[in-house]
Order: sequence, then C-alpha cells, then structure tokens
Amino acid sequence: MRKPGKHQLVAAALEARERAVAPYSKFKVGAALLTRSGEIITGANVESASYGLTCCAERTAIFAALTSGRRDFVACAVVARAPGGAMPCGACRQILSEYAPKAVVYVADSAKPKVVRKFTMKQLLPGAFVSLRAPKRP
Ligand code: THU
Repeated sequence: MRKPGKHQLVAAALEARERAVAPYSKFKVGAALLTRSGEIITGANVESASYGLTCCAERTAIFAALTSGRRDFVACAVVARAPGGAMPCGACRQILSEYAPKAVVYVADSAKPKVVRKFTMKQLLPGAFVSLRAPKRP
C-alpha cells in the first residue's frame, strides 16, 4: 500500500473534525498527523466551560500520537470551516515545532478540501524557543 498523500491526510482531518467537541465556539477543527512509516493519528478541538482550558485540534492530535508511542512526524493537516482554512495558533505552533519540527503543515477549508495550502514549521514559527534542556529526540 502506498503511503498516504496530502489529500488523504486532509480527508482524515475532515473526518476527525466531525468529532470536535466545540459547544461554545461551534468552531470545529480537525487535525491529522502523518508519521514517516505512513500511520495517521487524528485529533479535534475539545472545549471547556472554563474557556481557557480548551485544547486545539493540533495539540489533541499530537498528544494522542506522542502518548501512543509515535514520534517521527512528516506532515500535519488542519481543517476548519473558514476561508482558506484556519492557521494553527501560537501555542500549537510551539508544540508542533518541538515535536514535529520537520513536518509540513497542510491547511484547508472544510468546504473546499481540495484546496490545500502548505507551510513548513520554520515558516510558521521562525526562531522557535528551544530549551537548553531539550533532549535531542522527543
Ligand atoms: N482551534 C483549533 O482547534 N485549532 C486552531 O488552530 C485554532 C483554534 C479551536 C480552539 C477553539 O475550540 C476554537 O477553535 C475557537 O477558537
């Protein structure tokens, strides 16, 4: 079987978006990470009545991936219903740049999933904070 391409990854993020728990903003976001070996791990945003506790789709996906033993990420798709899609927030850019520094990020509008914009982590967070204590590999 061929490894998933960007359109398959966007399709996985679209599907994950349906599982978003966003009763407050009603803004559903889905994310899908692709590992070097071709696995896809997904996540969606989860909101709280205490709004600040909300976790974005990207972080939900990467926390799920990391805590199920996945490490080597080559791509991340983010899908939301907004013109051109929604760009990852600053907090997600920091986490992605720490744990998926080589991943390309695909951003798409759920209403136009064939139109995909591509970014590198360097473009999204130039000069990312790196701890002196950070291990070489996450
Ligand atoms: N959100 C994401 O899941 N990812 C992003 O990149 C931006 C924002 C979520 C958080 C919140 O549940 C909703 O979108 C509105 O901000």
